[in-house]
Amino acid sequence: MAIQQVGVVGCGLMGGGIAQVSAAAGFPTVVREVSPNALEKGLGSVRRFLQGGVDKGKLAAAEMERTLANIRGTTELRDLSGCDLVIEAVTENIGLKKEILSALDASCRPAAILASNTSSLSITEMSTFVRHPERVIGLHFFNPVPLMKLVEVVRTVRTDEAVLAETHAWCLAIGKTPVRCGDSTGFVVNRLLVPYMLDAVRVFEQGLASRDDIDSAMRLGCGHPMGPLMLTDYVGLDTAFYISEIMFDEFKEPRFAAPTLLRRMVTAGLHGRKSGRGFYDWSTHPPG
Ligand code: CAA
Repeated sequence: MAIQQVGVVGCGLMGGGIAQVSAAAGFPTVVREVSPNALEKGLGSVRRFLQGGVDKGKLAAAEMERTLANIRGTTELRDLSGCDLVIEAVTENIGLKKEILSALDASCRPAAILASNTSSLSITEMSTFVRHPERVIGLHFFNPVPLMKLVEVVRTVRTDEAVLAETHAWCLAIGKTPVRCGDSTGFVVNRLLVPYMLDAVRVFEQGLASRDDIDSAMRLGCGHPMGPLMLTDYVGLDTAFYISEIMFDEFKEPRFAAPTLLRRMVTAGLHGRKSGRGFYDWSTHPPG
């Protein structure tokens, strides 16, 4: 079965981006949110991103219209029942994922591929929630989805070779570069990225250098597009903290332990870009 119609569960930052790149590549895409308000908010972000592309001269207006015409929003999970590939991109909560995968399992065709965009939860555990674990796979996208080229394609010990091949081909069809990896917490990118972000917070916490000097050091010394503290703000301090907890729990290695400063900032509601303040003040442009 070649993938023709795609479903996305969740139209937040990641789900909206995934629906957008799928639709832009010509796949009729159904995206589901829990309420009309949440759906409108998510689709509004997609429209704004596409309009930004048109304004920057990166995208033809007709291309934007074609992409939007390929996206159908819904609040009903059963509207995804005709999809060949469904990607869940909801909050990182295993109970919620179980609920959604079980509902998809009941309404989708047995041949449908069920994928998760989780960055830290176990794909293997999710595969136990459905009747065909061999058709469950991880497709981990990166933020901002339309600009970041990578997708981690995560197989479990049960994943069917054909499912791996079909999803790999779909990633190429939507203009992404897939890398294959096994189901180990954090996969490849977060296994390397999370300790790096945590170490940057530790360096800052210890007063080794200022925020701006840490970020300049990695931008100008290593050619990174943004420094690690700005990146932590960008990913979300709460998200970075949450992933670090899961990784520490899995590996029991100090490098995955969240520094006290990160813990305190999360408690204080300084979640980075999404909350308006983290290491940077995001109400100014550029963030200061
Ligand atoms: N439509 C089309 N193209 C657009 C666009 C739009 N709306 N907005 C921007 N672009 C294009 C720009 O024109 C530009 O293209 P060129 O390079 O051809 O000029 C490019 O995208 C970059 O855009 P900007 O110049 O506006 O922005 P920037 O140069 O400051 O880059 C960034 C922004 C892409 C976010 C860059 O800073 C970056 O790559 N940062 C690192 C992001 C990262 O590491 N993400 C992964 C986080 S980890 C994760 O997601 C996983 C997890 O589980 C935690």
